[in-house]
Amino acid sequence: MPAERQAPGARPSLTERVPAVLSIRNVLSLAPVIPVLTIRSLEQAAPLARALIRGGLPVLEITLRTDCALQAIEAIRAAVPEGLIGAGTLTRPPDFADAVAAGAQFGVTPGLTRELTAAARKAGLPLLPGILTPSELIEARAAGFDACKLFPAQAAGGLELLRALAGPFPDQVFCPTGGVTAQNAAEFLALPNVPCVGGSWVAPQVAVEGRDWQRIEDLARRAAALRSTARAE
Ligand code: 3PG
Repeated sequence: MPAERQAPGARPSLTERVPAVLSIRNVLSLAPVIPVLTIRSLEQAAPLARALIRGGLPVLEITLRTDCALQAIEAIRAAVPEGLIGAGTLTRPPDFADAVAAGAQFGVTPGLTRELTAAARKAGLPLLPGILTPSELIEARAAGFDACKLFPAQAAGGLELLRALAGPFPDQVFCPTGGVTAQNAAEFLALPNVPCVGGSWVAPQVAVEGRDWQRIEDLARRAAALRSTARAE
């Protein structure tokens, strides 16, 4: 198939930037913010994903916290193929197979156990595992994870914790999540061990309920511009 023609200087599409074998480091490099979404009504799924992607955030985490979460992943994969869709809040081994069956392209856990690592491997799902302490990080590294979610980031020490972890773990990168906001995200992103952050602020529940997709797109656009702001400071 001939390569799609691209305007000179145009940013390659997400499909072109995602390698055939997806690693979590690839996922974290695609956008400065991963929206953490709890979808309460299936009909909201596709328009919400479209608004975020239009705003410049193509990597989305759909938490398995609602009855329709798996169906929401399925609906978004079908309706919005240009996104990269992860399943979050995977806390039990069977969640991994469910997530893959729904079409999830990566997984996110709030913490990590051997059972969860095994389930992720068995399901073939790239995993962003949650850690909080140096011991948990050592365990995660031993299991082969060189990129972790730091959760709950702000409650656990935020910027100071990430700066401290950079000493003994200089090659490890983190996606801080939990308490990251429009106000503090740029400070997190300015840290060399933070390629991206996760957060729910880009999709406020009131805007989702009110189907205010324009507001969500605007919030996403501001979030998508955060990396350049952070690095320039
Ligand atoms: C969560 O688990 O809900 C995520 O970490 C998002 O946290 P936030 O709502 O503080 O962004």
